[in-house]
Amino acid sequence: MSDTLRKAAVTGHPVAHSRSPLVHGYWLKKHGIEGDYGRMDVAPDDAERFYGDFAASGLVGANVTVPHKETAAASCDWLDDAARSMGAANTLWIDETGKLCGANTDGLGFLGNLDQLAPGWDANRGMALVLGAGGAARAIVWALLSRNYTAVHIVNRTQEKAQKIADEFGSKTVAHSWDKLGNLLGEADLLVNTTSLGMSGKPPLEIDLSTLPGSALVTDIVYAPLETDLLKQAAAQGNRTVDGLGMLLHQAVPGFERWFGIRPEVDEDLRKLILRDLGVSA
Ligand code: ATR
Repeated sequence: MSDTLRKAAVTGHPVAHSRSPLVHGYWLKKHGIEGDYGRMDVAPDDAERFYGDFAASGLVGANVTVPHKETAAASCDWLDDAARSMGAANTLWIDETGKLCGANTDGLGFLGNLDQLAPGWDANRGMALVLGAGGAARAIVWALLSRNYTAVHIVNRTQEKAQKIADEFGSKTVAHSWDKLGNLLGEADLLVNTTSLGMSGKPPLEIDLSTLPGSALVTDIVYAPLETDLLKQAAAQGNRTVDGLGMLLHQAVPGFERWFGIRPEVDEDLRKLILRDLGVSA
């Protein structure tokens, strides 16, 4: 390996399960770039030192996964709008002047997936209904507001967590308890599941979509199984659906471009590669 080889990695704890090396490895090979993308496990008690002196890692940049997204953001000299408003960074790079820069690309990944698979999805910019209030929900609320959605309603088992996001993002965002879901569905232009419900090995997402308008788009961030029961039910009643795999792939695009200088595409071969690795049938 030469000294000039540009090296990036997924950093976090744990990182063994991360598919990021497979995604970036695919793009490096496709574009014939002599770079490297690996895994770097950063122990929780070492995170402040690691991100505080990121240049010492020898990496030109990194992805950051749980539980270090907040520590990474706090170590940056510059943050993009999404990372600043979420207080969490998932993509780092060192700029020409040596500054550590951070972005949060989860929201962009969500938008990139819908833009690719459901062009025109945000034409109405009406009411979006978000199920769940974890880190993914926060990124998706940010993304929807960046596209000027008129209202974003968040429904969560623990209403206080939904309320916390609503308070952060302002008056277009409204928090509800789970039992309000039935009343809200009839108004939704977009329904997004950001909970882990419906994922293989997790409890099912119990929901009756019969009052959802026929024009509403339904999407899930769960991608194992690829077609969740939520998406099956939506498709069966004629709603447009988009699965969650693309969010995982599109969130990786800005980092690759920063580190290796080419904006890569999320193509069908990449989707197939990741699905095979996940053991998920398309
Ligand atoms: P992430 O940061 O990846 O989005 P998370 O913070 O664990 O993950 O959030 C998972 C979401 O799934 C939360 O909204 C959680 O609801 P709570 O905030 O009430 O915990 C939701 N979730 C997980 N298991 C659930 C269950 N059995 N019933 C209802 N909601 C559930």
